[in-house]
Amino acid sequence: MAFALTATAAENVKATIHANEPGAKINREIYGQFSEHLGSCIYGGLWVGENSPIPNINGYRKDVFEALQALRVPVLRWPGGCFADDYHWMDGIGPKDKRPSLRNNNWGGTIEDNSFGTHEFLNLCEMLGCEPYISGNVGSGTVKEMAQWVEYMTSDGDTPMARLRRANGRDKAWKVKYFGIGNEAWGCGGNMTPEYYSDEFRKFNTYLRDYTGNRLYRIASGASDYDYDWTKVCMEKIGGRMQGISLHYYTCTGWDGSKGSATKFNTDQYYWALGKCLEIEEVIKKHKAIMDEKDPKNTIGLLVDEWGTWWDEEPGTIPGHLYQQNALRDAFVAALSLNVFHKYTDRVKMANIAQVVNVLQSMILTDQEGTGHMVLTPTYWVFQMYTPFQEATHLPVDLPTETVQCSTDYWKKKQDTKDNSTRPCPLLSASAAKTKDGSIVLALTNVSLDKAQTIDFNFAGFNAKQVSGRILTSKNVADYNDFKNPNVVAPTDFKDAKLKKGVLTVKIPAKSIVVLNIK
Ligand code: AHR
Repeated sequence: MAFALTATAAENVKATIHANEPGAKINREIYGQFSEHLGSCIYGGLWVGENSPIPNINGYRKDVFEALQALRVPVLRWPGGCFADDYHWMDGIGPKDKRPSLRNNNWGGTIEDNSFGTHEFLNLCEMLGCEPYISGNVGSGTVKEMAQWVEYMTSDGDTPMARLRRANGRDKAWKVKYFGIGNEAWGCGGNMTPEYYSDEFRKFNTYLRDYTGNRLYRIASGASDYDYDWTKVCMEKIGGRMQGISLHYYTCTGWDGSKGSATKFNTDQYYWALGKCLEIEEVIKKHKAIMDEKDPKNTIGLLVDEWGTWWDEEPGTIPGHLYQQNALRDAFVAALSLNVFHKYTDRVKMANIAQVVNVLQSMILTDQEGTGHMVLTPTYWVFQMYTPFQEATHLPVDLPTETVQCSTDYWKKKQDTKDNSTRPCPLLSASAAKTKDGSIVLALTNVSLDKAQTIDFNFAGFNAKQVSGRILTSKNVADYNDFKNPNVVAPTDFKDAKLKKGVLTVKIPAKSIVVLNIK
């Protein structure tokens, strides 16, 4: 049984939106996505091939493509993840019937035919109007292989790799901005020390050229969660040779044994997970402090290029494919994490939720039986409701709140209590920003299981005249969308926000996310 740490009186909560203290512009890349050759993320998710009975546009699933278009995806990371350091890009170019098959050693040993490769990925990014983010292979690849990949994609000159690309049907070079030099180099990307990896980065990076006006934004494989030493060493040894360094942080109960069901959980598990999700703020602050010290001019971005929930795979699905359901609880993890990224957007230049379709905390699930059905997850709806935050200017919000935490008995039983944290979770959270058209977008979350709250928002430096919005909620926090009932958790119009004499009063129900547009 969870309990409250602080209590407030039953009167309205008094909050302030500081429109007169604008912060940084929220990088749209914070709304980035991640697609890996893992389970049915690529095959059956994004890609079904031109000859599939499932409606497609040149092989890309039409329904998935259109759903992603509506999210205004700014950047898509590919081909991994752990898969990236096992991937040899030349296997994925040229006539499809000549491409070799490969065994996906990281993810269930699945055999795949390489029919989705560099052309298919970069063309998809062009169609979506998003930046590609390529993860290069440091772990099992060579410097030459990586250097040639960059040349193949971005050289417009009369160079060998550009000629090969033209022979494969693509005349003009693509624009590729984001390039990752390795992934999880401390683990599946080569089990390196930060010192060794930093040297590897320097070596690989030397041969990655900027062709034909293309400018690479070079990203180092960064730390996992609490590994601050990794960031420190890379900042010291790689320094200005990189433009970004990654951070991976999953909302996960632990790495050994069961991670818990995505849809069956009790109150303790619920609040603990949200507290763990919110702990990302402390983690970002600590990595940022190291970066602020080593890079006071803020030239290197912190890229949270893998984040999200990681639960047990759905019973009956293929082991190693990380196919999990997505409940209203996941929507809270999305909203709370995005709020944190907004707050630190001056250093957090990108974030890529793991992953876009059918893997971990996905936007979209497609039917594993290949019937052609698709559902949009509660997490999808958060990303959709939050689109006005892209490129808006962050505004500070003061919002007092009660905090809850899981019971002591619960965390004592947990395996990873070494850190001694019950992971407290505030019931209310908010994020605000000023959009280009001068209105304010306000996202408000009430994660309480049973308590509605009424909040009076005052505005400093803004004259509020009109309000409209939508709400994402459901009867239970474990509710989810599936192929039989695809609209259990979906946004509806929100009517409980009223303006009177410039004060905005919002009555937010328990278990809900509200996004308002205020003019
Ligand atoms: O997103 C799934 C996996 O998690 C990625 O392949 C890897 O980078 C991380 O450990």
